[in-house]
Amino acid sequence: MRSPKDFFRPLAVGAPAPLREVPFRPSRMIHFFDPGNAKMAAKVPDIAPQVDVLLGNLEDAVAADRKEAARAGLVEIAKAVDFGATQLWTRINSLDSPWVLDDLVTLVTEVGDKLDVIMVPKVEGAEDIHYVDRLLAQLEAKAGITRPILVHAILETATGVANVEEIAGASPRMQGISLGPADLAASRRMKTTRVGGGHPGYLVREDPHGDQDTPRATFQQDLWHYTIARMVDACAAHGILPYYGPFGDIKDTTACEDQFRNAFLLGCVGAWSLHPVQIAIAKKVFSPAPADVAWARKVIAAMGDGTGAVMIDGKMQDDATYKQCRVVVSLADELAA
Ligand code: GLV
Ligand code: MG
Repeated sequence: MRSPKDFFRPLAVGAPAPLREVPFRPSRMIHFFDPGNAKMAAKVPDIAPQVDVLLGNLEDAVAADRKEAARAGLVEIAKAVDFGATQLWTRINSLDSPWVLDDLVTLVTEVGDKLDVIMVPKVEGAEDIHYVDRLLAQLEAKAGITRPILVHAILETATGVANVEEIAGASPRMQGISLGPADLAASRRMKTTRVGGGHPGYLVREDPHGDQDTPRATFQQDLWHYTIARMVDACAAHGILPYYGPFGDIKDTTACEDQFRNAFLLGCVGAWSLHPVQIAIAKKVFSPAPADVAWARKVIAAMGDGTGAVMIDGKMQDDATYKQCRVVVSLADELAA
């Protein structure tokens, strides 16, 4: 089996991280829709040009008695709509469900040439990815599909988190991993009833015995910090892409933006959008800010071949900050291309 490393170029001096050979495609927002919902399906041609990724969801949020309708709806939409530069993904049902085999067989056979990525929920270990990988290879060969369909895992069980490194490196098809905070909360027996985001009770509180110079304050912490950071490391080590998942409180656009930004700063390249209002938030957050890009270009220009040290506006820059700046500038350039 080819190693995921086969997808990488060798490291060059000044390169920030392993660079993937697969062409860059923006994926700042993975926009979910229910293909069995006629109202949502009718909007697909209008929404498609506004998003980087459009995902036909077959799993959770689609009721058991509507699974077949959702699958059939996705086939119909994939055949009828020209998605242009927008990627078409699907989220299949989980590998322990009665629907997943039909999801894979039907979708690859009918519209495998239109599907860019298959998102697999509740992945617990490399064996889950190996199963999907082998089945996809068989179905692609039968259907005469020559462009491999890529695989994206959702990290949403405690076992999956424990095995995140082996999941990230399980197949050259691996495109990325998303955090699934809702299922993960249940799997870990966290005491929340939300779809991602923070919790007003999860706080860091200033020492109540502090003095006058230190006014009391409370700050909400990011419940997902540990898992996002762990997922980002696993993805970076294997040259695949990390994503924050869903944010369920559609009305709280501020908290959504904060959660997306935390993930972006930690290394994620995108998040799910569950409602059109979250599309613009993801676009804004996951595109580097113009001021940050301008600063990064200034550092790169001042650093010459990327080695040594310079002072810019009183701040020390060296080989490592040069690499960080290259991350920001390459992302901006790739998004502008
Ligand atoms: C997503 O599927 C989640 O469980 O958060
Ligand atoms: Mg889930």
